[in-house]
Amino acid sequence: MNYDWEFIKATVKVFQKDKRYKHTLGVANEALNLGRIFMPNKLEKLYFAGLLHDITKDFNTEKQLEMCKKFEISVSPSIAPKLLHSKTGAHFAKEIFGDEFVDDEVFGGICYHTTGRVNMSLFEIIIYLADYIEDGRTFEDCVYLREFFYDRINEAKTMQEKLEILRKTMVLSFDLTIKNLISEDKQIDCDTVNSRNYFLTNTLELES
Ligand SMILES: [Fe+2]
Repeated sequence: MNYDWEFIKATVKVFQKDKRYKHTLGVANEALNLGRIFMPNKLEKLYFAGLLHDITKDFNTEKQLEMCKKFEISVSPSIAPKLLHSKTGAHFAKEIFGDEFVDDEVFGGICYHTTGRVNMSLFEIIIYLADYIEDGRTFEDCVYLREFFYDRINEAKTMQEKLEILRKTMVLSFDLTIKNLISEDKQIDCDTVNSRNYFLTNTLELES
């Protein structure tokens, strides 16, 4: 696959405010860091998905709902407007870059980066976690999760140990998110709860 990075970055930048674009670059870089540990054969694709994950995040709710209609995305009445961008972003990225670049793997990476899902692919996990712990994040939960992961991953010797650390990091990420939402009296998406339970009870494996 021939990625024209300058074109891709310039395209994303059109839709994002400066602060968001900085975060976008942080996520793409973190996806590379995590990819070097778990998916060294997909580094470019991970970087690409990282660049695209928040492409519609700066669109307002009205525009998000308009896009949901256009792309025929079913929106549950309980979904928080803040989560719509992951669904609209996946479709919008596909519309701009096409099926060849935004294949199912990239689409899933964007689509589930906010809530996770049951049976998340390793690719989706990397984009989700990169979004949570990228270097520019200063929120205490993000700093805590970043340290939790990197303090342990550097000690792990086997891939099995690394995957176990990844699994525990995912459980912790959902725990932190859920606690935070409760403390702020906000709704919790069912996918967030289901993802937490999934990582709590399933071991992770490398994809063949
Ligand atoms: Fe993000």
